[in-house]
Amino acid sequence: MLKKFPDNFLWGGATAANQYEGAYNVDGKGLATSDMLTAGTVDKVRRITPILESNEYYPSHEAVDFYHRYKEDIALFAEMGFKTFRFSIAWSRIYPNGTDTEPNEMGLQFYDRVIEELKKYDIEPLVTISHYEPPFACTEEFNAWESRRMIDCYVTYAKTVMERYKADVKYWITFNEINSLTRPVGAYLEAGMLVDDSGTFNNMEVDSTQLRYQALHHQFIASAKVVQLGKKINPDFKFGCMITYHCNYPYTCSPEDIFLAQQEDQMGNFYCSDVQVRGEYPSFAKRFWEENNVSLAIQDEDLDIIKKGTVDFYSMSYYQPTTVSAKNEGLETVYGNIVGGVKNPYLKASEWGWEIDPLGLRYSLNHIYSRYQIPMMVVENGIGARDEFVNKTVEDDYRIDYLEAHIEAMWQAIQDGVDLIAYTPWGCIDLVSASTGEMEKRYGFIYVDKDNDGQGTLDRFRKKSFFWYQDVIKHNGLSVK
Ligand code: BG6
Repeated sequence: MLKKFPDNFLWGGATAANQYEGAYNVDGKGLATSDMLTAGTVDKVRRITPILESNEYYPSHEAVDFYHRYKEDIALFAEMGFKTFRFSIAWSRIYPNGTDTEPNEMGLQFYDRVIEELKKYDIEPLVTISHYEPPFACTEEFNAWESRRMIDCYVTYAKTVMERYKADVKYWITFNEINSLTRPVGAYLEAGMLVDDSGTFNNMEVDSTQLRYQALHHQFIASAKVVQLGKKINPDFKFGCMITYHCNYPYTCSPEDIFLAQQEDQMGNFYCSDVQVRGEYPSFAKRFWEENNVSLAIQDEDLDIIKKGTVDFYSMSYYQPTTVSAKNEGLETVYGNIVGGVKNPYLKASEWGWEIDPLGLRYSLNHIYSRYQIPMMVVENGIGARDEFVNKTVEDDYRIDYLEAHIEAMWQAIQDGVDLIAYTPWGCIDLVSASTGEMEKRYGFIYVDKDNDGQGTLDRFRKKSFFWYQDVIKHNGLSVK
């Protein structure tokens, strides 16, 4: 017996240019914000260096060199049976400074080649237009998304790639994890904004809520403009928002904890997707702005643009839930993807402290779908783990267990009535970690020989999970144990 997924379900994997491509200054590419981030670890934060330092190691610069190895990698994805492949276009490969009048033809030709190769194997491209890699020149010139100027830069760039790939790309995600900008860490990571000159990535101490929410407003307009423009370029295009979704659990059944969980859900999860899916700011936004001294500069036409540029599908990353407590004194805290909370006594965690909760995925899919009722995609999920490379492979049963439990949860959600159409686990091939810059926090089905100091051959090897995922895709589901 099989826990079968719907016909034409899009099984695949996900990556992002800055963590995967390398070739950071090749063929005319400009510097991206991600290129200025040094390597860190779980205990050592990455630094933002406004000027590249010769004695520093920058993991994005070579990453795992997809730029030169795309044929080999796509052949491996095809061997697993991928139906789709999520990748981002490096904005500064196309517009090196963000403000250029002409695109960089060499950059466009790279994605021509990638898309051509995907087509060869019938793999549907799923393109993220902006994934944590705005051109750094925009940061230097006008602090990136702080400025309305960034809207035009983004629309020009998106127009170029949508026109170029209009025949071959159908699915577009406008911004990766747009709601990371509701948290201080999103300021530089997602929006390329330097809040001060501390030079510290993940800096929670220095923050400007005003700046982040204004930047989000600019991104909502940019996203909506691109949706409208894209539908003119090709009416068959499908656009998605992308939310890092955390189901919020109250630590106890006290009404205060339950209410706090609801508030976190509203502002952390739904603020952005309500705008992008429903086309308007949610009812709870006004009070949040007032209480947090946020005064948005909204021009006359903005709300109309947002209204007319709603997305077709909802996509999300899901790594862990967040547990919240109104009285958290004395409680142990944990930190996961972008968001932290109190330790949940019922959950185990990865070595990096990210809690593991497959049922939370079923809960989340149901919760979100009942709000929007549009097709959904899980475009990131997975476990970052230290792999032991022995005899040219990795026996990664822990990864198989993790993914199997999450696939089972998705299957259950589909039985619950959720219209889930795609699953692209994160880092289907080992790549650079966004939060720590490490290589050794690995997610892949494919092992890449490279360590945290940048040493290694970059050769690729199939892990045990490679063959397991191949079997899942072949059977379009899980065998019932
Ligand atoms: C998401 C991002 O936040 O999580 C990815 O969209 C990132 O870019 C992924 O890599 C996993 O996080 P990390 O920090 O383990 O790489």
